[in-house]
Amino acid sequence: MSSASQPSGLPPVVDNIEQTRALIAGWKQAGDKIIFVPTMGNLHAGHLALVEAANALGGKTVVSIFVNPLQFGKNEDLETYPRTFDEDISALSKYKVDLVFAPGVDVIYPEGGKSASIVDVPRLSAILDGEYRPDFFKGVATVVNKLFNIIQPDTAMFGEKDFQQLLVIRQMVKDLSMPIEIRSVATVREANGLAMSSRNHYLDDEQRHQAAVLYDCLEQVVKLVGEGEHPNYEVGRASQVLQAKGFRVDYVVVRRQQDLAVPEADDESLIVLAAVWLGSVRLIDNIPFEL
Ligand code: PAJ
Repeated sequence: MSSASQPSGLPPVVDNIEQTRALIAGWKQAGDKIIFVPTMGNLHAGHLALVEAANALGGKTVVSIFVNPLQFGKNEDLETYPRTFDEDISALSKYKVDLVFAPGVDVIYPEGGKSASIVDVPRLSAILDGEYRPDFFKGVATVVNKLFNIIQPDTAMFGEKDFQQLLVIRQMVKDLSMPIEIRSVATVREANGLAMSSRNHYLDDEQRHQAAVLYDCLEQVVKLVGEGEHPNYEVGRASQVLQAKGFRVDYVVVRRQQDLAVPEADDESLIVLAAVWLGSVRLIDNIPFEL
């Protein structure tokens, strides 16, 4: 896997930092911009929309595939998280991908599964998903910081599907003065509205069908709050509907887009966000909207 060349149109795959740095330094010297798409693999149309948006910017597109142990809680699905490397590489071959950085855990965390230094983006990491997954955003911010230091991108692409993650990364880049532009890409959905996610593989056919109710409920909140109903009332109602349909609800909230704070009366850029369980599968989704 450490070879930087692949036969028959497959993107070059590199598993070590030295070779990655050398390739990227050469491109930068030649004046190319580096556009970076970090992923945990098991690529679906959501990830590929990020790659497509990266391609549209010109420059060199670099995709990373790394299932980051640091962002999985003790009882979470690190071991069973879907790993589909060959399919991922073949999906990427349909795009212009100049480099796939696919390191092992020992490359990213040479001193064991836990990194010594941690990046914490305090306020944003503690609310909403951070309440339910206490170390999650520290794990994300730390690995993304490390990947940024290895790849040194001009621009990095993140999905709005993980809206809180997107804001945590934007805040980290700002707080730590990183010379990196963060761009976001709208959520890609299944035909029934279900946001694409690697964890959707854990759903059986009936659950997949049922999962679409989540998006319907969020759309309903957007519609009614847009018509002047009170957000608290509407999220309460959405939560009741979800529970009645068999979901366990972690949260359904309306917040401000810019910082996920509780909206003030004059805020116009809002977002409805939810995290729910269907059996043992946790789903998150959101819809940003303007009043
Ligand atoms: P992963 O879940 O693989 O997602 C990689 C990127 O794809 C993230 O920016 C995510 O928001 C985006 N994405 C996932 N599903 C999407 C969808 N349906 N529509 C649009 N974009 C979507 O997020 C991670 O990995 C990790 O936390 C990572 C940032 C790589 C750090 O380990």
